[in-house]
This record gives sequence, structure tokens and C-alpha cells, in this order.
Amino acid sequence: MDRILVVDDERAMRLGVTEVLERHGFAVTAVESGAAALAALARGQGAAEESFALVVSDMRMPIMTGAELLATVQERHPGLPMVMMTAYGTVEDAVAAMKAGARDFLTKPFAPGDLVHLVRRVLHDPEAERAAAGTGNRGPGERRIVTRAPVLQRLLAVAAGVAGSRAPILLEGESGTGKELVARYVHNAGPRRREPFVAVNCAALPRELLESELFGHERGAFTGATTRKLGKFELAHGGTLLLDEVSEMEPLLQAKLLRVLQEHEIDRVGGTRPVAIDTRVIATTNRPLRALVASGAFRRDLYYRLNVIPLTLPPLRARREDIDDLIDHFCRRFATGTPLTVDMAARAYLKRQPFPGNVRELEHVIERAALLAVDGVITAADVQIDEEPIAEPSPTGSLAGLTVHEVERRLIMETLKRTNNNRSRAAEMLGISVRTLRNKLAEYRLGGCEAAGAA
Ligand SMILES: Nc1ncnc2c1ncn2[C@@H]1O[C@H](COP(=O)(O)OP(=O)(O)OP(=O)(O)O)[C@@H](O)[C@H]1O
Ligand SMILES: [Mg+2]
Repeated sequence: MDRILVVDDERAMRLGVTEVLERHGFAVTAVESGAAALAALARGQGAAEESFALVVSDMRMPIMTGAELLATVQERHPGLPMVMMTAYGTVEDAVAAMKAGARDFLTKPFAPGDLVHLVRRVLHDPEAERAAAGTGNRGPGERRIVTRAPVLQRLLAVAAGVAGSRAPILLEGESGTGKELVARYVHNAGPRRREPFVAVNCAALPRELLESELFGHERGAFTGATTRKLGKFELAHGGTLLLDEVSEMEPLLQAKLLRVLQEHEIDRVGGTRPVAIDTRVIATTNRPLRALVASGAFRRDLYYRLNVIPLTLPPLRARREDIDDLIDHFCRRFATGTPLTVDMAARAYLKRQPFPGNVRELEHVIERAALLAVDGVITAADVQIDEEPIAEPSPTGSLAGLTVHEVERRLIMETLKRTNNNRSRAAEMLGISVRTLRNKLAEYRLGGCEAAGAA
């Protein structure tokens, strides 16, 4: 039987939670403090019938707080899931607990049904747990959302709170602020996590293509439609559809989208009957939609439909307190073998930058610096941000228009990336000596310095 350890200093709460869980077939041990909880867990390690599958703990307790208990449990009983009970209105507590590794949280007061549902999910759903561990905002995974900024933490708490609903979400924010990351976070935090997460960029395709991409088409719907094709709305059935850059949708498609949001059904191009779908829509925009409504470029009714849950991601320059943590996060990601560190001067320089490309720009800066760094230490010279953005190579892939020096620099950086920053392998591929490669890199670092000095 699954035994649950309930920790709360309030007697009424202990009794209530125990009663509900026992009524649903769980064995419960309730204690009044963190110290008593640790003692019970230690006893449980010896005897199988007394071992625990889950800890449900209050956050606010005298002497040892829920957060302290969480930290100690993680150390002494790694892998034992904990669910935290937090007071209404203390979202910071809940977010902090989730970041510290709690499996989930309940906001007091909660309905008995919510408690049972959550406990069942945590105990009987190893797959959901794995999904949450890999892609949720927990653990050191690729997709972790790094932030200590209160604005963003509040936003994440709201996002987690609405994960269970089907209401559309509108994510506004500059390019690179983490809109897609938050969309995935919402998806993974809710009951849809095991269903597909599908993304479509509304700006990338001309209208006709976008229409059949979204809604699918029947065979023979138009020239070239030789087979039936399912649209992204159908592919995301049961899950989440991310509509990137929704502001770029043409009026006709805006009308169709509005219908989907209202009726929960779609019309395939060339189809005769509507198809019912259960897809949660998350739309993003990096242009303020309200202004587009005012100028007539975006339908007002669609705007109101999408704007049920508006979330605005702050630009990185408005939350510079996150820069240090993000640097460390990306250093872990881009380290190859030896750990990567960033020295004080480089950090100070980065903290002053305006970052028009937001977190993505910082990510790229660290990725590039990782290739230039000597002995795993990134210095100010390695992180200089190019004042002039480098022209993108032409669509034909032609290098004409670039200097030989620039082509060489790109080739070297590209090769280093490809070899996972293995300098001897890169040198071999490039047909130059490791020493020459090292000299070139030193030269690029100096180049960055001069550019910045001149500016
Ligand atoms: N808070 C964060 N913590 C860790 N990584 C982040 C954070 N915010 C953004 N990133 C990373 O920055 C990059 C850009 O994020 P994302 O793609 O979510 O931005 P976006 O707002 O969707 O950008 P765009 O408008 O250009 O599509 C991604 O690699 C993402 O993992
Ligand atoms: Mg995006």
C-alpha cells in the first residue's frame, strides 16, 4: 500500500488531510513538524511496511519550514516525491518550492477532490513524472526556465495555475524572451502533457499554405492535393497548438481561427463536414496586438478571444538580476568536458548590454564564447557583442559579399561547433595545425575587443 507522510503544524489540517486520504484507500502517517517527519522517514527506511511513497507538507511551519524540509528530504531520500501545501496568495512560495524540486503544490484552501487527484497523479503516473522531470520547470533539463525575477516568477505561477484549463493563452513579448519555453511549460504542467505539442509559425507561410497547414485538406481540395492531409489542429488534438506570430495571420484566417476557438471544430479545406477537436491554443506575438486591433489589422473579436489569459514576458534588460543565473545555465549547457566559467569582467560587461535579442542573444553569446575560451574561462574579450550584425548569407548560400577573413572566421567557428569544440579534431578537419587554430582564435578575440573599444 502507498503510505503517505503528512506534515502540518496545524492539527485541523492534519486531521482533514488524513481523513480524506484514508477514505480514498491510502495509508497515512501525520506529524506536526519537519523534525518529526525526518524521524518518521528514517524509521520507514528500515521497515518496508512503514516506508513512504510521498510526503505532503505545509510550507509555513515554525522551526523547520517546508522549504527546509524539502531540501533535507531531497538530500536524505532522493527521488521521494514531495507535494507542498501553500497558503492562498503566496505564489512565490509555491514557485520557490517547485524550483527547489517539489513535485507539485496545492494552494490552501483546496477541495478534497483536488488533493486526491493530485496524490493519485503523483503516485500512479510514472510517465507523467518522467515527462515533468524532463520538460517541466524542474531539474537541470534543457528546458528549465531560469529566473529569480519576481515578475517572471509570478507569470510562471499564473501559467501553472491555468495549465489545466482549455482557455486560450496570449503570450506577448519581444523576440527571444522565452515565449515558446513558457508555452511548453504550460503544456507540461497540465493534463495535456502526454498529448502532442505542435507549433506553427503563422508568419512563415503564405495564406493558402497556412490554411491547409492549420486545418488540413481533403483529397482533391485543390490542384496538387493528391492525398488527404491532417492539419495541425487535428494533429494537436488532446494537446496544445502553439500559434507563433499570430499577429501575422491574414483576416480570412483570423475569422477561421475565431470559429475554432468558439466552436471547437475545424473545417478541412475542401471538406464537407466540420471535425470536432479538443486543442488548447497558445498564441504568441512580438508586436503588441492591442495596437494592431486599433489600426484595424487584427480582428477585435479574435483579440478578445485570445486574450482570455494574457501573459507578457519582460525583456531581459528589465530583469538583469537573471543574467548571472542564465550565464551559469548556458555555461553548463555549452561546456564540453571541462567546466566553463565566466570571469567577473565578462559578467560585468554582459550585465550592461541592452540585449535586443533577449535571452536567445545571451545564449548565442555564451555559445560562441565557449568556442573561444581558453582553459574553460570566458573573459570579456570572448563575449564582445558585435556592434554590426553580420549579414545573413544569401538564400543561395553564396559567400560573395563577405571578406575572406570573415569567411574564414565563420568556417572555423562552424567547424568548432560541429566537433563539439574539440580543437584538435577541428584543426584536422580544417587542414591547419592546432597552433594556427589557437592563433586564429586569439586574433578573433582581439578583434572583438577593438570593435568594442572603438564604439
Ligand atoms: N528564462 C529562461 N531560462 C532559460 N532559457 C531561456 C529562458 N528564456 C529563454 N530561454 C532560451 O532562449 C531561447 C529563446 O527562447 P524562446 O524560443 O522561448 O523565445 P521566444 O520568445 O519564443 O522567441 P521568438 O519570438 O523569437 O520566437 C531558447 O533557447 C530558450 O531555451
Ligand atoms: Mg518563439
